[in-house]
Amino acid sequence: SVRPLVLGIETSCDETAASVVGRGADGRPVVLSNVVLSQIEEHAAFGGVVPEIAARAHAESIGPIVEAGLAEAGVTLDEIDAVAATSGPGLVGGLIVGALVGKAIAASRQLPFLAVNHLEGHALTPRLTDALAYPYLLLLVSGGHTQILLVSGLGQYERWGTTIDDALGEAFDKTAKLLELPHPGGPSVERMAREGDAKRFDLPRPLRGEKRLDFSFSGLKTAVRQIALAHAPLSEQDVADLCAGFQRAAAESVRDRVTLALARFREAYPGLEHPVLAAAGGVAANGEIRAALREATERQGVRLVSPPLALCTDNGAMIAYAGLERLEAGLTDPLSAPVRPRWPL
Ligand code: KG4
Ligand code: ZN
Repeated sequence: SVRPLVLGIETSCDETAASVVGRGADGRPVVLSNVVLSQIEEHAAFGGVVPEIAARAHAESIGPIVEAGLAEAGVTLDEIDAVAATSGPGLVGGLIVGALVGKAIAASRQLPFLAVNHLEGHALTPRLTDALAYPYLLLLVSGGHTQILLVSGLGQYERWGTTIDDALGEAFDKTAKLLELPHPGGPSVERMAREGDAKRFDLPRPLRGEKRLDFSFSGLKTAVRQIALAHAPLSEQDVADLCAGFQRAAAESVRDRVTLALARFREAYPGLEHPVLAAAGGVAANGEIRAALREATERQGVRLVSPPLALCTDNGAMIAYAGLERLEAGLTDPLSAPVRPRWPL
């Protein structure tokens, strides 16, 4: 049997999600369901996530989504052993909706509650999909985050680098908006870049060669804007070339930072037989970014683990799984646990 069973709820940004995850008899976690409702269409006209619209959409969908998560898993609330809900960081309206529903279920069934940090969910996802031991290095590249984290145990995260301005996904999204490509920007830019010449425009490589592990993308975005203004009105080809140039610069920046981080990781754990870099977040879906990561890891003899896309982007399974690890470690939370819009790991 699969026990314990944890219901996970995620509402921190623009996805309303619920999932049931349990521990199989062989010790491996099992994802029994993973239901995600994206609000992309509600926000499309605004070119980004509108907090008020997001909060209302979460409130409308959370009931049916939790029911769908249970139904897809083929279980009822009677069989659930604990409830985990994202309690930060993120947009406060959505966090309140998800945490409140999670606490209400926990209270009515007298189940343990787990207030999960969304970033911890991303950080532990590689252990959900691969039999992966601590420690490992994690690159988290999403719409809200760009971080290199050392994951050395449950609750033991060290941030080695982060963005000093825009998150990488945000830079993709802003670049797309500027070039009048559809939201979400990442896939649009990647699609256009296929037809483009990455070398045509000279774009900056921010922080290249620096010894700190931080990222910076706003200068790159500004450079794209200036070139776009100078060449207006833009032809299809101009747009494709700008997308290709932007994506190349972003991928090179990631390769450069990750190469440095891997060298430090190997230094910190010289005896580690199978060092791993895990990649998570929506931007990790990008083909050129993936290629850059493959190059950086192969060169250093490090295994690259990238969970399937459905578990890399925001979802409930990562929250249920983080809840499961915490539950097993006895780290449950009181129902008075607050939501924390800002909550560094
Ligand atoms: O992890 P995610 O679903 O949500 C959070 O932000 O937490 O990541 C969404 C971000 C968006 O900025 C989106 O444009 C970007 O990931 N993204 C991509 C690609 N697919 C999604 N960026 C570049 N290339 C892609 N193929
Ligand atoms: Zn996320």
